[in-house]
Amino acid sequence: MEMQRVGVVGAGTMGNGIAHVFARAGYNVVLCDVEQRFLDRALETVTKNLEREVANNKVTAEAKAGALSRIRPVTDRGQLADCDFVIEAATEKFEIKTEIFRDLDRLTRPEIILASNTSSISITKLAAQTKRPEKVIGMHFFNPVPVMKLVEVIRGLATSQDTFASVRELSMKLEKTPVEVNDAPGFVSNRVLMPLLNEAMYAVMEGVATADAVDEVFKLGMAHPMGPLTLADFIGLDVCLDIMRVLQSGMGDPKYRPCPLLIKMVDAGWLGRKSGRGFYTY
Ligand SMILES: NC(=O)c1ccc[n+]([C@@H]2O[C@H](COP(=O)([O-])OP(=O)(O)OC[C@H]3O[C@@H](n4cnc5c(N)ncnc54)[C@H](O)[C@@H]3O)[C@@H](O)[C@H]2O)c1
Repeated sequence: MEMQRVGVVGAGTMGNGIAHVFARAGYNVVLCDVEQRFLDRALETVTKNLEREVANNKVTAEAKAGALSRIRPVTDRGQLADCDFVIEAATEKFEIKTEIFRDLDRLTRPEIILASNTSSISITKLAAQTKRPEKVIGMHFFNPVPVMKLVEVIRGLATSQDTFASVRELSMKLEKTPVEVNDAPGFVSNRVLMPLLNEAMYAVMEGVATADAVDEVFKLGMAHPMGPLTLADFIGLDVCLDIMRVLQSGMGDPKYRPCPLLIKMVDAGWLGRKSGRGFYTY
């Protein structure tokens, strides 16, 4: 089926980026959030990011205006009823996503695909909230969405080959590179990345090295563009802790135990860049 109108639920960091790349690729986007102020902020961000792309000769001023005109912000979820594809990028809470998937299943045409951008929630469980589990899939973009090339495409237990093939093709239309992954805690990206960040925190906690020294090892020795503790601060230490807990409970293996220093920092409200303090001060 030809997709023209795409729904994006959640207009935060990821939702605005996802709306940006769909609109830039020529799709009409219905961007939905719970309050107008979140939509206003999202459109401001998309405008600023498109302006940067114009300045860098990535898109023309005309293409920028076209992309912006294709994004329709709404607070009424009913406006998603005529979408040909919907991706959910709302807050990472199972209860929130459960409610959204049940409602989308009721609202939208039964043949359309419902995707989630979740970083850690089981696609199989989200699919089970609907009457179309074969049409539910993970489409995991990376931050910042307009820049990062990867889309992890996650098959739930019931996801059909047709659904997978459509989302792979859709990713390529957005000029992204899809990588196929099966549903498992943390998928591939966070299952491998988070234990690395967690282990770097243990090294700091145990006095093996300072945060700066750990980061230097990874930048200079492994050619990582940023060290693991800088990256953890950037992602948000609360998000890192949530994901470690998903890995710990999903795998039942003690090797995924969150670092006690991470727990303590989150308890203190030191959440990284967004709170002004984490492994570094901002
Ligand atoms: N931030 C990242 O680096 C990153 C990367 C990959 C995936 N993700 C995933 O993307 C999703 C969104 O993350 P984010 O960082 O953009 O979060 P965010 O907090 O920036 O944005 C979430 C948005 O969802 C909205 N929202 C909450 N409940 C809603 C509802 N019922 N209906 C509509 N909108 C609702 C909020 O108002 C908010 O604007 C999460 O599942 C997260 O795990 C995040």
